[in-house]
Amino acid sequence: MKRNDPCWCGSGKKYKKCHLDFDERLEGLKLDINKNQIRPTHELIYNAQDVEKIKRAAVINTGALDLIDELIKPGIDTLSLDTAVHDYIVGKGAHPSCLGFEGYPKSICTSINNVVCHGIPSADEILKAGDIVNVDITTDLDGFFADASRMYIVGGKTTPEAQRLVEVTREIMEAGIRAAQPWHLVGEIGAACGAMARENGYSVVTLLGGHGVGRQFHTPPFVSHDCEADTGMILVPGMVITVEPMINIGAKEVVTDADDNWTVRTEDGTLSAQWEKTILITETGNEVLAY
Ligand code: MF3
Ligand code: CO
Ligand code: CO
Repeated sequence: MKRNDPCWCGSGKKYKKCHLDFDERLEGLKLDINKNQIRPTHELIYNAQDVEKIKRAAVINTGALDLIDELIKPGIDTLSLDTAVHDYIVGKGAHPSCLGFEGYPKSICTSINNVVCHGIPSADEILKAGDIVNVDITTDLDGFFADASRMYIVGGKTTPEAQRLVEVTREIMEAGIRAAQPWHLVGEIGAACGAMARENGYSVVTLLGGHGVGRQFHTPPFVSHDCEADTGMILVPGMVITVEPMINIGAKEVVTDADDNWTVRTEDGTLSAQWEKTILITETGNEVLAY
């Protein structure tokens, strides 16, 4: 690309005034292929107009999670939560991205107690006081996606063990987000999350993780929540990723339901929690887009 060409990022600016210095910095990095250290491709880097579109999807997604805050209570079935979110997102002119994604049948995921993720809402599944539930929602609008999830303690009270898991898992996510820095490796996120999980006596699910998000639901990089700091893709300004640690009280191993092929549970039946935010890597750190 020549200095006066329009920049590859689609900003409309000349390359020399846009991503030329950025490309030189990225190319100049010495990376260790044995540690899977790699550069992001251009399609993983969003310009300001793209970020505005992701933010519009994110505002709707956050509104949908706020709706769950209002609705969730003992006695409600998870299909009612799904229907409410579906209608909310569609009413805003957007699409609940889970619906139809690789054949997934519903608009949200509701993962209760020992369910790690991808629990399918059902009319038969009635929430009880003391259940801990992850509600995971993704929204796409005008071709751009935003993804987030929150934990809920049904009825506001649970066991001390479950409450501590929910609270510490949120802190683990926040530690991961603090570690997500421009020109640093994505592995630093997993190193931060893994260290905090272990300090608290918890295990980290590593079979599933976070991901790039933006023009698609899931893109590279894979965001591990327990790995070596000096590994993986370089994070650069304009990348959008999720941080979404899945933390178990017992062992890290998980099993996928053989009947529905979606529901992921802890192998040992112990409790699991997860929080998720979508973040933008900026020049100086990161910005939360969906929470
Ligand atoms: N929202 C999940 C994530 O955080 C993915 C759910 S895929 C579905 O990546 F098909 F189960 F909805
Ligand atoms: Co999600
Ligand atoms: Co996600």
